[in-house]
Amino acid sequence: MRLGVDYYPEHWAESRWPIDARLMAEAGISVVRLAEFAWSRMEPKENKFDFKWLDKAINILAKEGIQVVLGTPTASPPAWLMAKYPDTYSRDEYGHIHGFGTRQHRCHTPENYRKRSRAITTAMAKHYGKNPNVIGWQTDNEFFREDCTCDKCKKKWHGWLKKKYKTLDKLNAEWGTVFWSQEYSDWSQIQVLAHPRSGNHYHSPSFQLDWRRFQSENAVSFQHEQVEILRKYAPKQFVTHNFMGFHDSLNYYDLAKDLDFVAWDNYPGEGPAGAAHDLMRGVLEKNFWIMEERAGHIGWDKFSPAPRPGEIRMWTWEAIAHGADVVSYFRWRSCLYGTEQFWQGILNHDAVPRRRYHEIAQTGAELKKLSPAIDGTAVKNEVAVLNDYENIWALDIQPQTEGFSFRKMLLLYTKALARLGVGADVIGPGADFKRYKVMVLPPLYVLTDEMAKKVTQYVHSGGTVVLNCRTGVKNEINVCRTEPLPGPLAHVAGLEISDYDCAGPRSVSVESSDGKAFKATLWCDVLELQSAEPIAVYKSHYYAGEPAAAVNKAGKGRSYYIGFVAEDSFYRHLMEQVLKEAGVKTVPDLPEGVELLRRVKNGTEVVFVINFTAEAKTVTLPGSYDELLGSHKAAGKLELKPFDVAVLK
Ligand code: GAL
Repeated sequence: MRLGVDYYPEHWAESRWPIDARLMAEAGISVVRLAEFAWSRMEPKENKFDFKWLDKAINILAKEGIQVVLGTPTASPPAWLMAKYPDTYSRDEYGHIHGFGTRQHRCHTPENYRKRSRAITTAMAKHYGKNPNVIGWQTDNEFFREDCTCDKCKKKWHGWLKKKYKTLDKLNAEWGTVFWSQEYSDWSQIQVLAHPRSGNHYHSPSFQLDWRRFQSENAVSFQHEQVEILRKYAPKQFVTHNFMGFHDSLNYYDLAKDLDFVAWDNYPGEGPAGAAHDLMRGVLEKNFWIMEERAGHIGWDKFSPAPRPGEIRMWTWEAIAHGADVVSYFRWRSCLYGTEQFWQGILNHDAVPRRRYHEIAQTGAELKKLSPAIDGTAVKNEVAVLNDYENIWALDIQPQTEGFSFRKMLLLYTKALARLGVGADVIGPGADFKRYKVMVLPPLYVLTDEMAKKVTQYVHSGGTVVLNCRTGVKNEINVCRTEPLPGPLAHVAGLEISDYDCAGPRSVSVESSDGKAFKATLWCDVLELQSAEPIAVYKSHYYAGEPAAAVNKAGKGRSYYIGFVAEDSFYRHLMEQVLKEAGVKTVPDLPEGVELLRRVKNGTEVVFVINFTAEAKTVTLPGSYDELLGSHKAAGKLELKPFDVAVLK
């Protein structure tokens, strides 16, 4: 368990570096990320590398026992590079370049840019690959979908389509380009799509989904080149990337395949970031790092509310409770110049250690004390919720109704599980479902035959699934399926959808079979039950009296189908029943705003109880424990101050 910080020695006089290093060490910080935006200092002229300043900074940090993670600086190519290789600028939907003066103005595609990326990565890796104070690498910074429209992207996109569809006839047939006379007679006629929501929207959904896949693969291939170089010259150092939690423009499962573990940048607002941590842990199904954790005000030109006393410590413990092994704060000190002048570091512009520094130092001391109990533990859950970029993208392209999205559905369930004190993994479509007693599947709107088979086998062999409305609508090409909904899962669900109503913002009354009333919105499927039993019926609208949700026994398992979207309380009620039947224990009395999470090793649990609110809370504990932070026995009732944390064993 370690604390870290993101540090930019190139922004400060050298005379300050030893003071910073000492203050970091005194706060319990033992990892520092450096250099991910320092290209112009490391390669001031093409192929003229200068690492002297960085060597000096690393040595100063090492003297205080601080180890270093280096970032490849390719998110901010310097002015000389852009001037010499103007084809490396990315272009917007009108073909205009994203000019120089901010960052990420590059396109991932042009060979000139890739060559410079390989050159700086190679030079850094050769120089630092065996440096004992450098423990690992971060590729680039926060990759995202560029939607570039440059000629090179266009050519690459056509190549990607040719590889996928082989012939234009096949592409025309699969995409259904006969619609609106869109049949292509030459590959060059196929547009690049800058952004499906600007200008050019209402392109074919198949076109749009493939474009997103292509864009994602392009970023992954860019990163792959760097990873190969790092593996060659720095084989003992880890390679990671700073992901962005719920950001969903790239397929994070593909992006992470090459990496040792996932790191992510967490800038929380009000309340828990829970499911984002779970998603990040689930990408490689292992513990993760926070590479950038909020340490103060956030905002570049406008401020956010300041973190209240206790919140930074609470966010740190929250990350650890969800499986983080290192929490690194962004940034050490607020910068005097540049776009991020007001994005607060641990230290303000005046560099005087104040309350946020002291809170982090307290957290550092706590981590040191508790590391023996927590190191080597991991999160193990019996319930998982599926995250799937193909479905996120397809529903973003055609959201069905305002406010409906894959993420909304995912969060309704993860929130309900957290309220019940049940940890959940958020996993990708390639993960092994059989490890879980219960799998929640937010709309499998694009449902491949392969996924339908996987879900069917899981249920038949004893698993419980929770399916949701808009499942089985499309195939892999984003073309509508012809079977009755929910398509190839109708058999597992034991029902068919006989009618559906886009309820939009209207509210439709629903009653569960135990007589509780709920409000459905956005979407209402009318269920025609075959082998399934109803668990809720509609009480209003033209389908009053018709089944709204149902459960079906299939093989050794069970399938729930929820035909509508509802308020939070419904999902809590539903999951209580689902978990009970699946034999998953809940902690039903958790007060609102308190979460209970667990990490385990060899069957021994460490339990984290976190109060996310500004009020004191009393928690009824599910057993008797040693409270490790305060070193006392905790049994029965646990009192938590505002934003407080208890760690129990
Ligand atoms: C992150 C980014 C950092 C910094 C920070 C604050 O998204 O990775 O480089 O820009 O936001 O703005």
